Amino acid sequence: MVQAKKRIGILTAGGDSPGLNAAIRGFGKAAIGLGMDLIGYRDGIRGLVENRYTPLDSGALSGILTIGGTILGTSRDKVHRMMIDGETRDMRTQVVENYEKEGLSGLVMLGGGGTAKNALRLAGAGLNVITLPKTIDNDIARTDTSFGFATAMEIATEAIDRLHSTAHSHHRIILTEIMGHRAGWLTLAAGIAGGADIVLLPEIPYTVASVAETIKTRLIRGSTFSVVAVAEGARDVQDSADIEAAELLVHAAKTPEQIRAAKAHLANVTDEQREHTFKLARELEAATGLESRVTILGYVQRGGIPCAADRLLASRLGTAAAHAVSKGQFGMMVAARGEDTDLVPLTEVAGNLKLVPPDHEWIQTARKLGTGLGD
Ligand code: F6P
Repeated sequence: MVQAKKRIGILTAGGDSPGLNAAIRGFGKAAIGLGMDLIGYRDGIRGLVENRYTPLDSGALSGILTIGGTILGTSRDKVHRMMIDGETRDMRTQVVENYEKEGLSGLVMLGGGGTAKNALRLAGAGLNVITLPKTIDNDIARTDTSFGFATAMEIATEAIDRLHSTAHSHHRIILTEIMGHRAGWLTLAAGIAGGADIVLLPEIPYTVASVAETIKTRLIRGSTFSVVAVAEGARDVQDSADIEAAELLVHAAKTPEQIRAAKAHLANVTDEQREHTFKLARELEAATGLESRVTILGYVQRGGIPCAADRLLASRLGTAAAHAVSKGQFGMMVAARGEDTDLVPLTEVAGNLKLVPPDHEWIQTARKLGTGLGD
């Protein structure tokens, strides 16, 4: 008896990143080779809820390996708390209806930590799901790395290279703020690769005194400039303690009123700290007598053509996912493990952030280089 073709849905969710299209292509080419049909949902979870999709055949996959962003579009929606016509609704039942109406055998979700949580919610609603680790932050648990990270590291490193020449020419402190959300991987990697004099991470709260001391020591040795790589989540010791206290209040809150008040307080504290890199620049100028300037790298770190390493990683993970789907292996993330891939239960991924361990080998490398870490 001829077996009916498996029909698989694929979507990209969360922040975009280089390599997403390479992963769609990797999965798609392997899946079509295995006799599957593919549809691509538009704009992440929202397209899944609204059943907006496009067929993905070999023609649609052709030429997308090197294209930045995602040809499908993305969003940051949560399937259990979607804003629909001004009210928050749980849309899992709608998704199950669409999945069954389209006769899907599985759903592939390319995303980061938030997507792993959405995938687990949909698995709990009975869908066959599998995820691929995507983010420039490299903060996804139980995978060596994620596609997007290598390209963002190249971009941030090149920026630090360029900032060295202007800092040197003007005898200035140049602070560059690098993405990474609550993790310092991207800042640490680009900081080392770019030869930053100081690298400030969320995982190691800094003191202005320590940062200023490193700059003054450089001055005494004749280096009249410094480049400081600042993770967007890095904070000084006091700000870090304030955020932690505010987050603890949210976790401790019981009644709806307590939760609302605690979340409002956390938002306030977070907002007050939004300009932390500019505040640090002013403090360092006052402490050292050197002019300081700030560059926020922002979204350039997520844009453009994926580097070769990300194309290779995305192709490896995408093709591995197709073979896992063909074997009915769901409820998993396809993780990067050395030169291989590994299937990790979503329950071990969702809700777990991978932060830089204080004794990580890259931290040791920075310290051996004499890089200031602000502590
Ligand atoms: O997760 C990737 C990322 O770029 C983080 O580094 C950053 O904090 C966040 O997305 C920005 O989110 P948004 O794209 O919603 O502004």
